[in-house]
Amino acid sequence: MSIHWFPGHMAKARRQIEEKLKQVDIVIELLDARLPLASRNPMIDEITGHKARLVLFTKGDMADEAITNEWVSYFTSMGISVLPIDAKTGKGVQKIATTCERVLEPLFISRKKKGIVSKRMRAMVLGIPNVGKSSLINRLAGRHATQTGDRPGVTKAQQWIRVGKQLELLDTPGILWPKFEDPNVGMRLAMSGAIKEEILPTEEVALHTLKYLSSRYPILLEERYNIEILEHTPVELLDEIGKKRGCLMRGGQIDWDKAADIVMGDLRSGRLGRISLEIPSDYEEDIHEEND
Ligand code: G4P
Repeated sequence: MSIHWFPGHMAKARRQIEEKLKQVDIVIELLDARLPLASRNPMIDEITGHKARLVLFTKGDMADEAITNEWVSYFTSMGISVLPIDAKTGKGVQKIATTCERVLEPLFISRKKKGIVSKRMRAMVLGIPNVGKSSLINRLAGRHATQTGDRPGVTKAQQWIRVGKQLELLDTPGILWPKFEDPNVGMRLAMSGAIKEEILPTEEVALHTLKYLSSRYPILLEERYNIEILEHTPVELLDEIGKKRGCLMRGGQIDWDKAADIVMGDLRSGRLGRISLEIPSDYEEDIHEEND
């Protein structure tokens, strides 16, 4: 479901998160493993304050494993605990409770000083639309516990889901708005499917995707479409893919919309292979450009 995030929506989403924060010891922040920084709301620190945090990389099954490892090191070097998961198969999900326990060790120590031995932990899930919040909560709950839909206004009585012995999870996630003013970030979000075509047209996103794949994943592109990418511009590649896939309009012209839909569908479904949409050094380049 797409939502246009107007200032009013953002303020409301933020208020709802702040309400939930009062009830929990730890925030489980969901980031898309394929684009961990682009799928992160830059105001996260301001919104969650000093609350303990665990970052989960969702859709790790769709990302390039070597790049995901680079991202894990990147976040770890910033002092943030990270766990890659796949909410569809459940891979990594069983480690969430014990990792929360490790992150909350300082809290347990301070509780102990006050004579409280309980290691009970209360947590909430937080992330942008489509990052996998409902899938994760449903998997942990073992049933369809959350309402799907990204409407910040959706209200329902909150419940706690027990995960393992000590962890309780709020069954309604906090929804953060994606931040896409930066054109690079916006394009990566669009490539992943997190922002919709009313914001960036599919054809433009597909051309950018072909340019990106030609430079980072040329073999995957060649294998999927049985094309030679050497020396070809993104426009020529889209044309070639359209021809190969029979995307023709009356008069024999290539139907670019159809060809663009095929490329984006293949990328977002994982049919093109495991692809990461950003690497840590992309941001170093951005920082250098800003400083030049
Ligand atoms: P949200 O609550 O944060 O908005 O996200 P949601 O759980 O609804 O997930 C959005 C889409 O991402 C869903 O696909 C879901 O299946 C998929 N997804 C979530 N986590 C993972 C993951 O770890 N790996 C993979 N591969 N996919 C994941 P959909 O196409 O919208 O629906 P469907 O495929 O479940 O029918």
